[in-house]
Amino acid sequence: MTSSWSLEEKRAFVGGASLAPRRLLVTGGAGFIGSNFVHYWCSRYPGDRLVVLDALTYAGNRQNLALVDSRENFRFVEGNICDRQKIDILLQQEAIDTIVHFAAESHVDRSIIGPDAFIQTNVVGTFTLLEAFRQHWNGFLKDQTNSSDQIGSKQTGVFLHVSTDEVYGSLGPDDPPFTETTPYAPNSPYSASKAGSDHLARAYYHTYGLPTIITNCSNNYGSYHFPEKLIPLMCINILLGKPLPVYGDGQNIRDWLYVGDHCRALDAAIALGKPGETYNIGGNNEVKNIELVRLLCRLMDELAPNLPVRPCEQLIQFVKDRPGHDRRYAIDATKIKTELGWTPSVTVEEGLRQTVLWYLNNQDWWQPLLSEEYRAYYRQVYQV
Ligand code: NAD
Ligand code: DAU
Repeated sequence: MTSSWSLEEKRAFVGGASLAPRRLLVTGGAGFIGSNFVHYWCSRYPGDRLVVLDALTYAGNRQNLALVDSRENFRFVEGNICDRQKIDILLQQEAIDTIVHFAAESHVDRSIIGPDAFIQTNVVGTFTLLEAFRQHWNGFLKDQTNSSDQIGSKQTGVFLHVSTDEVYGSLGPDDPPFTETTPYAPNSPYSASKAGSDHLARAYYHTYGLPTIITNCSNNYGSYHFPEKLIPLMCINILLGKPLPVYGDGQNIRDWLYVGDHCRALDAAIALGKPGETYNIGGNNEVKNIELVRLLCRLMDELAPNLPVRPCEQLIQFVKDRPGHDRRYAIDATKIKTELGWTPSVTVEEGLRQTVLWYLNNQDWWQPLLSEEYRAYYRQVYQV
Protein backbone atom coordinates (compact mmCIF):
# COMPACT_ATOMS: atom_id res chain seq x y z
CA MET A 1 0.00 0.00 0.00
CA THR A 2 1.48 3.32 -1.03
CA SER A 3 0.02 5.08 2.02
CA SER A 4 2.53 3.34 4.29
CA TRP A 5 5.55 4.13 2.12
CA SER A 6 8.18 6.51 3.35
CA LEU A 7 8.95 9.61 1.28
CA GLU A 8 12.30 8.06 0.31
CA GLU A 9 10.53 4.97 -1.00
CA LYS A 10 8.07 7.13 -2.92
CA ARG A 11 10.88 9.17 -4.47
CA ALA A 12 12.69 6.00 -5.49
CA PHE A 13 9.46 4.59 -6.89
CA VAL A 14 8.91 7.61 -9.11
CA GLY A 15 12.03 6.44 -10.95
CA GLY A 16 9.60 3.91 -12.38
CA ALA A 17 12.23 1.26 -13.15
CA SER A 18 10.11 -1.60 -11.83
CA LEU A 19 6.86 -0.58 -13.53
CA ALA A 20 5.36 -2.23 -16.56
CA PRO A 21 5.58 0.16 -19.54
CA ARG A 22 2.81 2.71 -19.81
CA ARG A 23 1.02 3.80 -22.96
CA LEU A 24 0.45 7.53 -22.77
CA LEU A 25 -1.63 9.93 -24.81
CA VAL A 26 -0.20 13.43 -24.31
CA THR A 27 -2.54 16.14 -25.59
CA GLY A 28 -0.95 19.50 -26.40
CA GLY A 29 2.48 17.82 -26.53
CA ALA A 30 3.74 20.29 -29.16
CA GLY A 31 3.24 23.27 -26.85
CA PHE A 32 5.52 24.68 -24.16
CA ILE A 33 4.99 22.43 -21.12
CA GLY A 34 3.75 19.49 -23.19
CA SER A 35 6.97 19.30 -25.23
CA ASN A 36 9.13 19.64 -22.13
CA PHE A 37 7.09 16.82 -20.60
CA VAL A 38 7.58 14.64 -23.71
CA HIS A 39 11.37 15.17 -23.55
CA TYR A 40 11.37 14.41 -19.84
CA TRP A 41 9.27 11.28 -20.21
CA CYS A 42 11.15 9.85 -23.20
CA SER A 43 14.48 10.12 -21.44
CA ARG A 44 13.18 8.90 -18.10
CA TYR A 45 10.98 6.04 -19.34
CA PRO A 46 12.37 5.04 -22.75
CA GLY A 47 10.33 1.81 -22.74
CA ASP A 48 6.98 3.62 -22.61
CA ARG A 49 4.81 4.27 -25.66
CA LEU A 50 4.08 7.98 -26.04
CA VAL A 51 1.53 9.38 -28.49
CA VAL A 52 1.09 13.15 -28.86
CA LEU A 53 -2.22 14.58 -30.06
CA ASP A 54 -1.94 18.25 -30.97
CA ALA A 55 -3.93 20.57 -33.24
CA LEU A 56 -0.84 22.71 -33.97
CA THR A 57 -2.50 26.02 -33.23
CA TYR A 58 -0.28 29.13 -33.28
CA ALA A 59 1.16 27.83 -29.96
CA GLY A 60 1.95 24.32 -31.17
CA ASN A 61 5.22 23.71 -32.98
CA ARG A 62 6.52 20.48 -34.53
CA GLN A 63 10.05 21.80 -33.97
CA ASN A 64 9.49 21.44 -30.24
CA LEU A 65 9.46 17.65 -30.73
CA ALA A 66 12.34 17.36 -33.20
CA LEU A 67 14.56 15.69 -30.59
CA VAL A 68 12.17 12.75 -30.09
CA ASP A 69 10.59 12.45 -33.54
CA SER A 70 12.63 9.51 -34.74
CA ARG A 71 12.11 7.38 -31.63
CA GLU A 72 10.39 4.09 -32.23
CA ASN A 73 8.13 4.48 -29.21
CA PHE A 74 6.97 7.95 -30.20
CA ARG A 75 4.12 8.99 -32.49
CA PHE A 76 2.79 12.44 -33.37
CA VAL A 77 -0.81 12.84 -34.48
CA GLU A 78 -2.15 16.17 -35.68
CA GLY A 79 -5.71 16.51 -34.44
CA ASN A 80 -8.18 18.37 -32.30
CA ILE A 81 -9.27 17.27 -28.82
CA CYS A 82 -12.84 18.13 -29.86
CA ASP A 83 -12.68 15.39 -32.54
CA ARG A 84 -14.31 12.48 -30.71
CA GLN A 85 -13.94 9.99 -33.51
CA LYS A 86 -10.23 10.57 -33.84
CA ILE A 87 -9.73 10.21 -30.09
CA ASP A 88 -11.77 6.99 -29.92
CA ILE A 89 -9.65 5.46 -32.66
CA LEU A 90 -6.39 6.56 -31.03
CA LEU A 91 -7.29 5.30 -27.57
CA GLN A 92 -8.20 1.90 -28.92
CA GLN A 93 -5.52 1.54 -31.57
CA GLU A 94 -2.76 2.52 -29.15
CA ALA A 95 -4.28 0.76 -26.10
CA ILE A 96 -3.77 3.95 -24.10
CA ASP A 97 -3.78 3.59 -20.29
CA THR A 98 -2.76 7.13 -19.31
CA ILE A 99 -3.90 10.50 -20.64
CA VAL A 100 -1.83 13.54 -19.75
CA HIS A 101 -4.01 16.45 -20.81
CA PHE A 102 -2.12 19.66 -21.57
CA ALA A 103 -3.97 20.83 -24.70
CA ALA A 104 -5.53 24.22 -24.06
CA GLU A 105 -5.73 27.80 -25.11
CA SER A 106 -3.36 29.10 -22.46
CA HIS A 107 -2.83 32.86 -22.75
CA VAL A 108 -4.86 35.25 -20.60
CA ASP A 109 -4.45 38.24 -22.95
CA ARG A 110 -5.78 36.23 -25.90
CA SER A 111 -8.75 35.10 -23.80
CA ILE A 112 -9.63 38.75 -23.23
CA ILE A 113 -9.50 39.52 -26.96
CA GLY A 114 -11.33 36.36 -28.08
CA PRO A 115 -12.77 33.97 -25.47
CA ASP A 116 -14.57 31.64 -27.92
CA ALA A 117 -11.64 29.33 -28.61
CA PHE A 118 -11.04 29.02 -24.85
CA ILE A 119 -14.52 27.66 -24.23
CA GLN A 120 -14.29 25.37 -27.22
CA THR A 121 -10.90 23.81 -26.47
CA ASN A 122 -10.67 24.07 -22.70
CA VAL A 123 -14.25 23.15 -21.81
CA VAL A 124 -15.71 21.26 -24.79
CA GLY A 125 -12.37 19.65 -25.66
CA THR A 126 -11.80 18.42 -22.10
CA PHE A 127 -15.35 17.12 -21.96
CA THR A 128 -14.82 15.26 -25.25
CA LEU A 129 -11.62 13.64 -23.96
CA LEU A 130 -13.24 12.65 -20.67
CA GLU A 131 -16.16 11.05 -22.48
CA ALA A 132 -13.84 9.17 -24.83
CA PHE A 133 -11.68 7.97 -21.93
CA ARG A 134 -14.78 6.92 -19.97
CA GLN A 135 -15.92 4.71 -22.81
CA HIS A 136 -12.40 3.34 -23.31
CA TRP A 137 -11.94 2.75 -19.57
CA ASN A 138 -15.25 0.95 -19.22
CA GLY A 139 -14.63 -1.31 -22.18
CA PHE A 140 -10.97 -2.03 -21.78
CA LEU A 141 -8.99 -0.71 -18.87
CA LYS A 142 -11.44 -1.34 -16.06
CA ASP A 143 -11.34 -5.08 -16.71
CA GLN A 144 -7.61 -5.05 -16.18
CA THR A 145 -7.82 -3.23 -12.85
CA ASN A 146 -7.00 -5.60 -10.03
CA SER A 147 -7.20 -3.38 -7.01
CA SER A 148 -7.07 0.29 -6.10
CA ASP A 149 -3.99 -0.50 -3.98
CA GLN A 150 -2.05 -0.71 -7.20
CA ILE A 151 -1.43 2.99 -7.42
CA GLY A 152 1.41 3.51 -9.83
CA SER A 153 0.45 0.43 -11.81
CA LYS A 154 -0.65 1.11 -15.35
CA GLN A 155 -3.66 -1.13 -14.87
CA THR A 156 -5.43 1.52 -12.82
CA GLY A 157 -5.46 3.96 -15.74
CA VAL A 158 -5.03 7.69 -15.14
CA PHE A 159 -6.51 10.83 -16.65
CA LEU A 160 -4.22 13.61 -15.49
CA HIS A 161 -5.77 17.03 -16.04
CA VAL A 162 -3.02 19.66 -16.08
CA SER A 163 -4.48 22.86 -14.70
CA THR A 164 -3.58 26.20 -13.24
CA ASP A 165 -3.50 28.13 -9.97
CA GLU A 166 -5.45 30.93 -11.75
CA VAL A 167 -8.71 29.09 -10.99
CA TYR A 168 -8.38 30.29 -7.37
CA GLY A 169 -8.47 33.97 -8.34
CA SER A 170 -6.36 36.72 -6.83
CA LEU A 171 -4.70 37.02 -3.38
CA GLY A 172 -4.26 40.13 -1.26
CA PRO A 173 -0.78 40.94 0.09
CA ASP A 174 -1.38 39.25 3.46
CA ASP A 175 -3.53 36.30 2.34
CA PRO A 176 -2.15 32.80 2.86
CA PRO A 177 -1.19 30.93 -0.34
CA PHE A 178 -3.75 28.84 -2.26
CA THR A 179 -4.36 25.34 -0.91
CA GLU A 180 -6.35 22.56 -2.54
CA THR A 181 -9.41 23.68 -0.54
CA THR A 182 -9.31 27.35 -1.55
CA PRO A 183 -12.65 28.15 -3.24
CA TYR A 184 -12.55 28.69 -6.98
CA ALA A 185 -12.86 32.34 -8.08
CA PRO A 186 -11.58 32.63 -11.66
CA ASN A 187 -11.33 36.18 -13.02
CA SER A 188 -10.45 35.85 -16.72
CA PRO A 189 -12.14 33.92 -19.53
CA TYR A 190 -9.01 31.71 -19.57
CA SER A 191 -9.16 30.85 -15.87
CA ALA A 192 -12.94 30.44 -15.98
CA SER A 193 -12.59 27.94 -18.82
CA LYS A 194 -9.90 26.04 -16.90
CA ALA A 195 -12.10 26.06 -13.79
CA GLY A 196 -14.92 24.57 -15.88
CA SER A 197 -12.65 21.81 -17.15
CA ASP A 198 -11.39 21.10 -13.61
CA HIS A 199 -14.97 20.69 -12.43
CA LEU A 200 -15.68 18.27 -15.26
CA ALA A 201 -12.59 16.17 -14.43
CA ARG A 202 -13.62 16.12 -10.78
CA ALA A 203 -17.23 15.21 -11.59
CA TYR A 204 -16.14 12.29 -13.79
CA TYR A 205 -14.39 10.75 -10.81
CA HIS A 206 -17.30 11.26 -8.45
CA THR A 207 -20.02 10.23 -10.90
CA TYR A 208 -18.40 7.51 -12.98
CA GLY A 209 -15.39 6.49 -10.90
CA LEU A 210 -13.10 7.55 -13.75
CA PRO A 211 -9.56 7.79 -12.30
CA THR A 212 -9.00 11.51 -12.84
CA ILE A 213 -6.33 13.54 -11.05
CA ILE A 214 -6.09 17.34 -11.24
CA THR A 215 -2.94 19.38 -10.76
CA ASN A 216 -3.06 23.16 -10.31
CA CYS A 217 0.30 24.71 -11.05
CA SER A 218 1.81 28.18 -10.84
CA ASN A 219 3.62 30.09 -13.64
CA ASN A 220 6.10 27.96 -15.55
CA TYR A 221 9.14 29.17 -17.46
CA GLY A 222 11.91 27.53 -19.49
CA SER A 223 12.68 26.37 -23.03
CA TYR A 224 10.14 26.27 -25.92
CA HIS A 225 7.96 28.95 -24.29
CA PHE A 226 5.95 30.89 -26.89
CA PRO A 227 6.99 34.59 -26.90
CA GLU A 228 3.61 35.97 -25.87
CA LYS A 229 4.18 35.13 -22.18
CA LEU A 230 6.13 37.48 -19.91
CA ILE A 231 9.54 35.77 -19.71
CA PRO A 232 10.10 34.71 -23.35
CA LEU A 233 8.59 38.00 -24.57
CA MET A 234 11.04 40.00 -22.45
CA CYS A 235 14.01 37.84 -23.51
CA ILE A 236 13.24 38.30 -27.19
CA ASN A 237 12.44 42.00 -26.96
CA ILE A 238 15.75 42.56 -25.16
CA LEU A 239 17.60 40.74 -27.94
CA LEU A 240 15.75 42.83 -30.55
CA GLY A 241 16.18 46.10 -28.64
CA LYS A 242 12.40 46.56 -28.40
CA PRO A 243 10.46 48.10 -25.44
CA LEU A 244 9.75 45.83 -22.47
CA PRO A 245 6.03 46.37 -21.70
CA VAL A 246 5.27 46.00 -17.97
CA TYR A 247 1.56 46.08 -17.19
CA GLY A 248 0.20 48.60 -14.66
CA ASP A 249 2.57 49.37 -11.78
CA GLY A 250 4.57 46.14 -12.18
CA GLN A 251 3.77 45.13 -8.59
CA ASN A 252 1.70 42.04 -9.52
CA ILE A 253 3.15 38.88 -8.04
CA ARG A 254 3.51 35.45 -9.64
CA ASP A 255 5.00 32.23 -8.21
CA TRP A 256 7.57 30.99 -10.78
CA LEU A 257 8.39 27.33 -11.35
CA TYR A 258 11.01 25.89 -13.71
CA VAL A 259 9.22 23.70 -16.25
CA GLY A 260 11.42 20.66 -15.54
CA ASP A 261 10.27 20.75 -11.92
CA HIS A 262 6.66 20.81 -13.12
CA CYS A 263 7.33 17.70 -15.24
CA ARG A 264 8.75 15.88 -12.20
CA ALA A 265 5.66 16.82 -10.22
CA LEU A 266 3.37 15.45 -12.95
CA ASP A 267 5.41 12.24 -12.95
CA ALA A 268 4.83 11.92 -9.19
CA ALA A 269 1.09 12.57 -9.64
CA ILE A 270 0.80 9.91 -12.37
CA ALA A 271 2.76 7.31 -10.42
CA LEU A 272 1.55 7.98 -6.89
CA GLY A 273 -1.41 10.37 -7.03
CA LYS A 274 -4.78 9.25 -5.78
CA PRO A 275 -7.68 9.24 -8.23
CA GLY A 276 -10.19 11.98 -7.42
CA GLU A 277 -7.55 14.16 -5.75
CA THR A 278 -6.17 17.58 -6.59
CA TYR A 279 -2.53 18.56 -6.08
CA ASN A 280 -1.21 22.12 -6.04
CA ILE A 281 2.25 22.58 -7.59
CA GLY A 282 4.33 25.70 -7.00
CA GLY A 283 7.88 26.95 -6.86
CA ASN A 284 7.73 28.86 -3.57
CA ASN A 285 9.16 31.73 -5.61
CA GLU A 286 6.90 34.78 -5.30
CA VAL A 287 8.35 37.61 -7.39
CA LYS A 288 6.95 41.01 -8.40
CA ASN A 289 6.81 41.39 -12.18
CA ILE A 290 9.06 44.44 -12.21
CA GLU A 291 11.68 42.64 -10.12
CA LEU A 292 11.56 39.68 -12.46
CA VAL A 293 12.00 41.86 -15.53
CA ARG A 294 14.95 43.67 -13.89
CA LEU A 295 16.54 40.31 -13.03
CA LEU A 296 16.15 39.23 -16.66
CA CYS A 297 17.75 42.49 -17.79
CA ARG A 298 20.76 41.93 -15.52
CA LEU A 299 21.18 38.37 -16.79
CA MET A 300 20.99 39.52 -20.41
CA ASP A 301 23.52 42.32 -19.78
CA GLU A 302 25.85 39.66 -18.35
CA LEU A 303 25.27 36.85 -20.86
CA ALA A 304 24.38 38.39 -24.24
CA PRO A 305 27.37 39.61 -26.25
CA ASN A 306 25.80 42.01 -28.77
CA LEU A 307 22.78 43.72 -27.25
CA PRO A 308 21.29 46.61 -29.28
CA VAL A 309 20.64 48.51 -26.01
CA ARG A 310 22.76 48.12 -22.88
CA PRO A 311 22.03 48.22 -19.98
CA CYS A 312 18.74 46.83 -21.18
CA GLU A 313 16.73 48.11 -18.21
CA GLN A 314 16.44 51.30 -20.29
CA LEU A 315 13.94 49.41 -22.44
CA ILE A 316 11.39 48.97 -19.61
CA GLN A 317 8.10 50.78 -20.27
CA PHE A 318 5.07 50.76 -17.98
CA VAL A 319 1.98 50.26 -20.17
CA LYS A 320 -1.80 50.10 -19.75
CA ASP A 321 -2.81 47.33 -17.33
CA ARG A 322 -4.39 44.02 -18.36
CA PRO A 323 -8.17 44.16 -17.66
CA GLY A 324 -9.06 42.17 -14.52
CA HIS A 325 -5.34 41.63 -13.82
CA ASP A 326 -4.95 39.28 -10.83
CA ARG A 327 -2.71 40.91 -8.24
CA ARG A 328 -1.02 37.98 -6.60
CA TYR A 329 -0.75 34.19 -6.91
CA ALA A 330 0.98 31.99 -4.35
CA ILE A 331 0.86 28.23 -3.93
CA ASP A 332 0.98 26.09 -0.81
CA ALA A 333 2.48 22.85 -2.15
CA THR A 334 2.51 21.02 1.19
CA LYS A 335 0.16 18.26 0.01
CA ILE A 336 2.24 17.10 -2.96
CA LYS A 337 5.36 17.37 -0.83
CA THR A 338 4.07 15.31 2.06
CA GLU A 339 1.94 12.82 0.11
CA LEU A 340 3.96 12.33 -3.08
CA GLY A 341 7.45 13.40 -2.01
CA TRP A 342 7.85 16.17 -4.62
CA THR A 343 9.71 19.44 -4.06
CA PRO A 344 11.03 21.95 -6.61
CA SER A 345 14.76 21.67 -7.24
CA VAL A 346 15.70 24.71 -9.35
CA THR A 347 16.04 28.21 -7.85
CA VAL A 348 14.56 31.09 -9.81
CA GLU A 349 18.03 32.62 -10.36
CA GLU A 350 19.43 29.37 -11.76
CA GLY A 351 16.32 28.59 -13.83
CA LEU A 352 16.24 32.09 -15.34
CA ARG A 353 19.94 31.90 -16.20
CA GLN A 354 19.35 28.60 -18.04
CA THR A 355 16.31 30.10 -19.77
CA VAL A 356 18.13 33.25 -20.90
CA LEU A 357 20.94 31.08 -22.30
CA TRP A 358 18.38 28.94 -24.13
CA TYR A 359 16.82 31.95 -25.89
CA LEU A 360 20.29 33.25 -26.71
CA ASN A 361 21.36 29.94 -28.21
CA ASN A 362 18.12 29.12 -30.01
CA GLN A 363 17.37 32.15 -32.16
CA ASP A 364 16.56 29.75 -35.02
CA TRP A 365 13.69 28.47 -32.90
CA TRP A 366 12.07 31.80 -32.05
CA GLN A 367 12.79 33.96 -35.12
CA PRO A 368 10.22 32.12 -37.31
CA LEU A 369 7.55 32.59 -34.62
CA LEU A 370 7.55 36.35 -35.16
CA SER A 371 5.10 35.93 -38.03
CA GLU A 372 2.60 38.41 -39.44
CA GLU A 373 -0.08 36.81 -37.21
CA TYR A 374 2.18 37.36 -34.21
CA ARG A 375 2.83 40.99 -35.16
CA ALA A 376 -0.92 41.61 -35.56
CA TYR A 377 -1.55 40.06 -32.14
CA TYR A 378 1.23 42.19 -30.65
CA ARG A 379 -0.19 45.41 -32.11
CA GLN A 380 -3.64 44.57 -30.74
CA VAL A 381 -2.50 43.81 -27.18
CA TYR A 382 0.11 46.54 -26.84
CA GLN A 383 -1.60 49.10 -29.06
CA VAL A 384 1.63 49.94 -30.87
P1 NAD B 1 0.77 26.25 -24.83
O1 NAD B 1 -0.19 27.29 -25.29
O2 NAD B 1 2.22 26.49 -24.99
O3 NAD B 1 0.46 24.89 -25.60
C1 NAD B 1 -0.84 24.42 -25.81
C2 NAD B 1 -0.77 23.28 -26.84
O4 NAD B 1 -2.11 22.77 -27.01
C3 NAD B 1 -0.28 23.72 -28.22
O5 NAD B 1 0.64 22.78 -28.72
C4 NAD B 1 -1.54 23.75 -29.07
O6 NAD B 1 -1.32 23.48 -30.43
C5 NAD B 1 -2.36 22.65 -28.41
N1 NAD B 1 -3.80 22.82 -28.62
C6 NAD B 1 -4.54 23.95 -28.44
N2 NAD B 1 -5.83 23.73 -28.75
C7 NAD B 1 -5.92 22.41 -29.10
C8 NAD B 1 -6.99 21.58 -29.50
N3 NAD B 1 -8.24 22.04 -29.60
N4 NAD B 1 -6.72 20.28 -29.76
C9 NAD B 1 -5.46 19.80 -29.67
N5 NAD B 1 -4.41 20.56 -29.31
C10 NAD B 1 -4.63 21.84 -29.02
O7 NAD B 1 0.37 25.94 -23.35
P2 NAD B 1 1.30 25.61 -22.08
O8 NAD B 1 1.77 26.87 -21.48
O9 NAD B 1 2.27 24.58 -22.46
O10 NAD B 1 0.21 25.00 -21.09
C11 NAD B 1 -0.13 23.62 -21.16
C12 NAD B 1 -1.21 23.33 -20.13
O11 NAD B 1 -0.72 23.63 -18.83
C13 NAD B 1 -2.48 24.14 -20.31
O12 NAD B 1 -3.57 23.30 -20.03
C14 NAD B 1 -2.36 25.24 -19.27
O13 NAD B 1 -3.62 25.65 -18.84
C15 NAD B 1 -1.61 24.52 -18.18
N6 NAD B 1 -0.77 25.38 -17.33
C16 NAD B 1 0.14 26.23 -17.88
C17 NAD B 1 0.97 26.99 -17.06
C18 NAD B 1 2.01 27.93 -17.62
O14 NAD B 1 2.63 28.66 -16.86
N7 NAD B 1 2.25 27.94 -18.93
C19 NAD B 1 0.84 26.88 -15.67
C20 NAD B 1 -0.11 26.01 -15.14
C21 NAD B 1 -0.90 25.25 -15.98
O1 DAU C 1 -0.38 30.94 -13.07
C1 DAU C 1 -0.39 29.98 -14.10
C2 DAU C 1 -0.66 30.67 -15.41
O2 DAU C 1 0.53 31.39 -15.74
C3 DAU C 1 -1.01 29.71 -16.54
O3 DAU C 1 -2.22 29.08 -16.23
C4 DAU C 1 -1.14 30.46 -17.87
O4 DAU C 1 -1.36 29.52 -18.91
C5 DAU C 1 0.15 31.19 -18.12
O5 DAU C 1 0.03 31.95 -19.30
C6 DAU C 1 0.49 32.10 -16.95
O6 DAU C 1 -0.49 33.17 -16.86
P1 DAU C 1 -0.07 34.68 -16.54
O7 DAU C 1 -1.11 35.58 -17.04
O8 DAU C 1 0.35 34.83 -15.12
O9 DAU C 1 1.28 34.75 -17.44
P2 DAU C 1 1.87 35.90 -18.36
O10 DAU C 1 3.24 35.45 -18.76
O11 DAU C 1 0.94 36.29 -19.45
O12 DAU C 1 2.00 37.14 -17.37
C7 DAU C 1 2.78 37.06 -16.20
C8 DAU C 1 2.66 38.38 -15.48
O13 DAU C 1 3.32 39.39 -16.26
C9 DAU C 1 1.24 38.86 -15.32
O14 DAU C 1 1.10 39.54 -14.08
C10 DAU C 1 1.04 39.84 -16.47
C11 DAU C 1 2.42 40.43 -16.63
N1 DAU C 1 2.80 40.82 -18.01
C12 DAU C 1 2.63 39.93 -19.01
C13 DAU C 1 2.96 40.26 -20.31
C14 DAU C 1 2.77 39.26 -21.43
C15 DAU C 1 3.34 42.09 -18.25
O15 DAU C 1 3.52 42.89 -17.32
N2 DAU C 1 3.68 42.40 -19.52
C16 DAU C 1 3.51 41.55 -20.57
O16 DAU C 1 3.84 41.92 -21.74
